[in-house]
Amino acid sequence: MAIPAKPGSYARPFLKWAGGKTQLLGEFEKRLPEELRNGTITKYAEPFIGGGAVFFWLNNRFSFEHSLICDVNEELVLSYKAIRRSTDNLIALLGELESSYLSGNETEREEFYYEIRNAFNRKLPAIDFTRYSADWTERAAQIIFLNRTCYNGLFRVNRKGGFNVPFGRYKKPEILNAENIRDVSRLLKTTRILHGDFETVRKFADDQTFVYFDPPYRPLNPTSSFTSYSKKGFSDADQVRLAEFFRELDAKGAKCMLSNSDPQNENPEDCFFDDLFDGFSIERIPARRRINCNGLCRGDVNELIITNYPVSGTR
Ligand SMILES: C[S@@+](CC[C@H](N)C(=O)[O-])C[C@H]1O[C@@H](n2cnc3c(N)ncnc32)[C@H](O)[C@@H]1O
Repeated sequence: MAIPAKPGSYARPFLKWAGGKTQLLGEFEKRLPEELRNGTITKYAEPFIGGGAVFFWLNNRFSFEHSLICDVNEELVLSYKAIRRSTDNLIALLGELESSYLSGNETEREEFYYEIRNAFNRKLPAIDFTRYSADWTERAAQIIFLNRTCYNGLFRVNRKGGFNVPFGRYKKPEILNAENIRDVSRLLKTTRILHGDFETVRKFADDQTFVYFDPPYRPLNPTSSFTSYSKKGFSDADQVRLAEFFRELDAKGAKCMLSNSDPQNENPEDCFFDDLFDGFSIERIPARRRINCNGLCRGDVNELIITNYPVSGTR
């Protein structure tokens, strides 16, 4: 059964990730299924893992017998697998990147950043994402380094899959946190890590599983879209397919929670998600995300939290 986790395991995200859910954890806390607390749920699946804020948070609180994480971004999945498999080697490589970076002045740091970014992009055609190799460890170290030192801590690629975020000017970025990498690795040892579409979790999810879905946002407006987690975007047709999948897992007895941006922030008439998830619990929660606009920026926007089980204690 899902029991409270042992103290001492505090793994937390090792990458900054667009759409990270750290700020909503308090809201999720109030909406966890009762079956998670009473021990009926023993499995956890997160098919849009990204930086894993919810995955790490939940696993620090509950010990699942089995967990599965998945993402369509192959560089991200490679990083999770490399941390699990070559922890010490990765720590050593990241330590070297950190020392070289921190020993330079600002111009040297910038040059070093672009050197690593170029090396990372040049190597892409030679990487076999389907088979583990020593190259993976170097690549994971570069991904973490670039993520920690790039502008805004993003992972964004162009159409060809090249990492294209410019240099970020940080005084003393935390590049290596060896203790966290070890904690993450320990947790991942009991986690299945899959690369692919969210439907990949189909077989795993059953009536003892809690599934949290955090798909790419439906853009608030045409200029606010951040759609470059991967070469392929996430269209309205994908959102529809996801809602159908949510219904399928509901029919299997899985407990499901999904978050997304609320299109009614922009257009109060837009019932896209209300229609798609008709019959489920749909709540609108204020979030500290702002509409990306020039001049007239509105304040906080709502986030949707949709569950296929009744939520208690939230009002
Ligand atoms: C909003 S982010 C998840 C953020 C995550 N909850 C966190 O806290 O960092 C959405 C993720 O979905 C992934 N993604 C996009 N399309 C996908 C698909 N069809 N199947 C699985 N993952 C997908 C993206 O690569 C991205 O990592």
